[in-house]
Amino acid sequence: MTAIRKGRAAVAARLLVLAMTTSALSLPPGAASAQQTFTPREEEPEEFPDAPGREETFYFCTACHNFKLVAQQGMSRPRWDGTLDFMTERHGMPKLEGKDRDVILDYLEQAFPETTATPGWQNPFLKR
Ligand code: HEC
Repeated sequence: MTAIRKGRAAVAARLLVLAMTTSALSLPPGAASAQQTFTPREEEPEEFPDAPGREETFYFCTACHNFKLVAQQGMSRPRWDGTLDFMTERHGMPKLEGKDRDVILDYLEQAFPETTATPGWQNPFLKR
């Protein structure tokens, strides 16, 4: 008898907790889309130009920001190289060295060469 009652109370308590958790998790409208903006994985590497190193580059860079930020740029290899330094110095990106750096630079140079830059478009971040 008592055991059953205890069991029921426990179930009821658990349901109550569940109900409270569920309502706490339901986000107000707008919060979900704001959150998506900062979820890099909503993109897939397949959306970007196919070249060796695409996955490596994609996952490395999207640790911090979406890949569109990268893909909208068009740079020569030395400028991509400088961008990598900039990411490390300014934004705390893990330092890329040796083969890893080559793989990523190879991809960036092939996929987003200088000529793909939108004519007249200025990188607002480089003016600082
Ligand atoms: C440790 C975090 C981090 C990593 C990893 C990272 N970035 Fe960034 N990156 C930033 C931040 C912070 C900004 C500032 C702008 C923003 O987030 O909107 C930025 C901005 C940029 C910009 C915009 C222009 C500029 O110079 O600010 C480019 C291009 C860029 N990153 C390229 C890359 C590439 C390519 C990789 C991968 C090889 C990469 N980033 C990896 C943090 C990072």
